[in-house]
Amino acid sequence: MKERILVTGASGFLGFNLCNLLKDRFSLLGCYHNHNITVPGVETVQMDIRAEKQVEELFISFRPHIILHTAALSHPNYCQEHAEESFGINVFAVKIISDLSLKYNAKLIFTSSDMVFDGEHAPYSESASVSPINRYGEHKALAEIYIREHNSQAAICRLPPLYGRPGPYSGGFLQSVRTALEGGRGIFLYTDEFRTPLYVEDAAAGLLCAARAALPVLHLAGDERLSRYDLGCIIARRFGYNTQLITPCSQEQKPQPAPRPRDLSLANSLAKSLGFKPRSISDCLRALL
Ligand SMILES: NC(=O)c1ccc[n+]([C@@H]2O[C@H](COP(=O)([O-])OP(=O)(O)OC[C@H]3O[C@@H](n4cnc5c(N)ncnc54)[C@H](OP(=O)(O)O)[C@@H]3O)[C@@H](O)[C@H]2O)c1
Repeated sequence: MKERILVTGASGFLGFNLCNLLKDRFSLLGCYHNHNITVPGVETVQMDIRAEKQVEELFISFRPHIILHTAALSHPNYCQEHAEESFGINVFAVKIISDLSLKYNAKLIFTSSDMVFDGEHAPYSESASVSPINRYGEHKALAEIYIREHNSQAAICRLPPLYGRPGPYSGGFLQSVRTALEGGRGIFLYTDEFRTPLYVEDAAAGLLCAARAALPVLHLAGDERLSRYDLGCIIARRFGYNTQLITPCSQEQKPQPAPRPRDLSLANSLAKSLGFKPRSISDCLRALL
């Protein structure tokens, strides 16, 4: 019998990739909120993860062994300006899912973010203290704290910016760069925001590593540390776009509603000791051509 996995956020960038990558090995149920998806072999269900009764009914009927919880408000600027909505989805709903995972003996894998850190003490290992500087990071950190205090079976996976094949409704940084450059639109990218980006398929493999391990927190990140600007230029060159459309700038020159930590590089050696093998950016972009 195949293990049953509940993928929340199945219509999102990561969730959609998870459904496609895991559908042959597991029995999957994908949960969406506003956008239904079609992935052959994957059943889907509409649900608001803030509706506890509805979520519990799903646990009772599907009896998942594993929950890959990717549903979230994932855009820092939106969260900054919609604090209440962000709290409801990124904190309150996580409490619901954490408690139900415990009650129904399912292993919760929570997708958190490198934005739980302030960006001043990179590279960050799993034992570093959280210190968010924007609302999104603050809410992810609050959800993490709740899980750590109440669900000892769960694993928190902190993710850096993901790139890869887009979902039908969202596609991450790579997609937004491609869309702009394809349309001949210029973009500004920060030279003073550093991250360790990860291929979305490697993120999926890492989440499964976490599901098999007994570790409370795991950093799933790529090996390469680069600025937004450098990553944008690599993407532009690989897909044959005009790099002149990308203007380098500092955070001070182009501030956003949610302040961005300066350097959120994550140390990934713990995950690697479990068999996590992030591929190089050039190999992954080649796979996308
Ligand atoms: N993408 C990245 O680069 C990145 C980096 C670090 C961490 N993360 C984390 O990884 C996870 C996945 O991110 P993502 O980029 O895949 O996000 P995304 O593309 O924005 O997708 C968000 C998903 O959450 C669902 N959702 C939102 N509100 C909901 C609600 N009230 N009830 C049920 N479902 C709801 C959406 O459903 P509908 O579309 O159907 O409404 C969608 O499927 C998130 O936890 C995010 O914080 C992502």
